[in-house]
Amino acid sequence: MTTRYHNFSAGPGALPLAVLEEAQRNFLNHEGLGASLIEMSHRTKPFESVLYAARDTLAELYGLPDTHEVLFLQGGAHLQFAMVPLNLGAGAYIDTGVWAKRAFDEAARVGPAWKLWTSAAENYRNVPAPDAKFDAPEGAKYLHYTTNNTIYGTEFHHVPESALPLVSDMSSDFLSRPMDLGRFALVYAGAQKNAGPSGVTIIIARKDLVRSFTGAANVPLIMRYSIHAENDSMYNTPNTFGVYLVGLVAKWVKANGGLAGMDAAADEKASMIYDVLDRHPEVFDPHAAPGSRSRMNLTFRIRTGADAEKALLAAAEKRGIVGLKGHRSVGGLRASIYNAVPRESVVALQGLLTDFAAGKA
Ligand SMILES: Cc1ncc(COP(=O)(O)O)c(C=O)c1O
Repeated sequence: MTTRYHNFSAGPGALPLAVLEEAQRNFLNHEGLGASLIEMSHRTKPFESVLYAARDTLAELYGLPDTHEVLFLQGGAHLQFAMVPLNLGAGAYIDTGVWAKRAFDEAARVGPAWKLWTSAAENYRNVPAPDAKFDAPEGAKYLHYTTNNTIYGTEFHHVPESALPLVSDMSSDFLSRPMDLGRFALVYAGAQKNAGPSGVTIIIARKDLVRSFTGAANVPLIMRYSIHAENDSMYNTPNTFGVYLVGLVAKWVKANGGLAGMDAAADEKASMIYDVLDRHPEVFDPHAAPGSRSRMNLTFRIRTGADAEKALLAAAEKRGIVGLKGHRSVGGLRASIYNAVPRESVVALQGLLTDFAAGKA
């Protein structure tokens, strides 16, 4: 294929073409230094400056206060499901879907954990209402929630109210809107949706929490935030190329209106698709409840059933539109419209859905 397809993959997902091109240009001879970045030691000035630039651009995008810092780890969000309770202690959890539940289950394996709220009985159609309050169970050290539920297509459009320090999995809506991360004790995001390739996890956390370890003595060093913070995310060999790509994506976000620019684009792109779905309620059945709809992952079914969904996927492929299959655990359809999905791709999808509803696709 010589042209790139319209990529609605849920993750790893679309990355900005300009970023891929810059990485390609730089690949064989990084900044003219005579070697590829992936051939260089992480203990060199060129890599240090790549990592510091990525870190500083992320901090700048979020307007991060001095109380917080950025770390780059590996192991995906799953490692964070374990590291959070191992480092911060017992936590209270909001269960809004598969990943939120997995975070809770992992915490319950480590020690006491409280599930304060769940929408499992409603098939995870909604997140808690903005006025829901989450009281602190005795002994809880934080409240954990997942800002965007990639599989169910729901998203928090508010920050939950609680006296507990907030910990959040932002894997699938990181970099999609301005947010005061200074309000959070710790935020983590696997890069592979909005921020880069898989294999890098971004942590943004309060320095006092990650600079001192207060967990159990038998927690291995590699599982402690403090060891990573003290070593500027270079305690062991980081995913050097992955961190480089995250830095390029952050630079791209900055050049394209910053987080406010991403926010406005996400609003527009998501409503282009929700509008078509809502205009044809006899054909499409969106999963998320109003008020909980995700702008990143738009999930829906076709009322006539799985065969019609297969027909839509086949029609999509003919138009170069891919990645629309729902997560294997829930089925249905899902359009993931991350920052890097261009408006033209959304126009193409809008056309497909409109034609499908009219029996023309
Ligand atoms: C919100 C969220 N959390 C966690 C995960 C799991 O991430 P990883 O595979 O990086 O561990 C995903 C992956 O799709 C996700 O979307």
